[in-house]
Amino acid sequence: MGDRLKGKVAIITGAGTVLAGLGNGKATAIVFAREGARVMAVDYNLDAAEETRRVIDEEGGECITFKADVSRADECQSMIETCVKTFGRVDIVHNNVGIGQWGGPVETTEETWDKVMTVNVKSMFLTCKYVIPYMEKQGGGTIINIASVGAIRSTLPNIAYAASKAAVVGLTRDVAIQYAEKGIRVNVILPGLMKTPQAEYYNKDAWAGGDIDEMWRRRDSMVPMKRQGRGWDTANAALFLASDDSQYITGTTLIVDGGISNTMRSW
Ligand SMILES: NC(=O)c1ccc[n+]([C@@H]2O[C@H](COP(=O)([O-])OP(=O)(O)OC[C@H]3O[C@@H](n4cnc5c(N)ncnc54)[C@H](O)[C@@H]3O)[C@@H](O)[C@H]2O)c1
Repeated sequence: MGDRLKGKVAIITGAGTVLAGLGNGKATAIVFAREGARVMAVDYNLDAAEETRRVIDEEGGECITFKADVSRADECQSMIETCVKTFGRVDIVHNNVGIGQWGGPVETTEETWDKVMTVNVKSMFLTCKYVIPYMEKQGGGTIINIASVGAIRSTLPNIAYAASKAAVVGLTRDVAIQYAEKGIRVNVILPGLMKTPQAEYYNKDAWAGGDIDEMWRRRDSMVPMKRQGRGWDTANAALFLASDDSQYITGTTLIVDGGISNTMRSW
């Protein structure tokens, strides 16, 4: 156990995983708890959040769970209020929730477009909307948003996801600048190809006709480091942004991708 987040209270949205295994949100909740944060693990799948809590409990960390769909205003508001009521404060909001959907403009339905934008972007607007007044009263806080290298590089046709993640980068920049003087830091992480349950869940058909091992092999081979990232890689970047080690950093885009966004290889 470390103490880089000692005394801090952290909300992690999407702290469960969509399939068994280790995702970005779950790894971040575990790492924040290991570093002394009191964690609120939020998910609309409460069982998934409970699994994360089980791991944190076993390691001697402190975690509560909360069921919320963060694309809904009332549930976001109640998430922030419950955190403040339970712990007396909220220092870190880690906006991890995000969903994918393959398809270009012709294949993507209007409903899919609206859903991806609502879950991936509106949720981050809503958590900011409800947590910032508390952070202002406390004299500061940190918000970390999860986007994707899909915000800055083309992947397979993925129009709603790409647009939503680019929007997260813009949202981060604007909120960061507006609240810089108030001690509220806002940064965004762009993970690359990560070997997570979510990658399996959303991508297995688009990448290799449902052959999961072949999909992992192809993804590994495309990365300059020759391996996909793990949830821990995203979590360690988030730890830096959440901790006082990054106290002079706001509005930054931190790419965690084994170098892939620097290459000219096609996906
Ligand atoms: N895996 C990758 O290759 C990759 C790459 C780049 C970016 N990302 C981003 O990482 C983030 C997710 O990572 P993960 O591995 O933790 O994903 P995950 O899908 O395994 O876990 C996310 C959790 O979010 C929950 N969730 C989904 N919608 C929700 C909602 N509206 N309200 C509350 N909870 C909700 C799910 O139940 C799940 O437990 C996303 O923002 C994703 O776009 C992933």
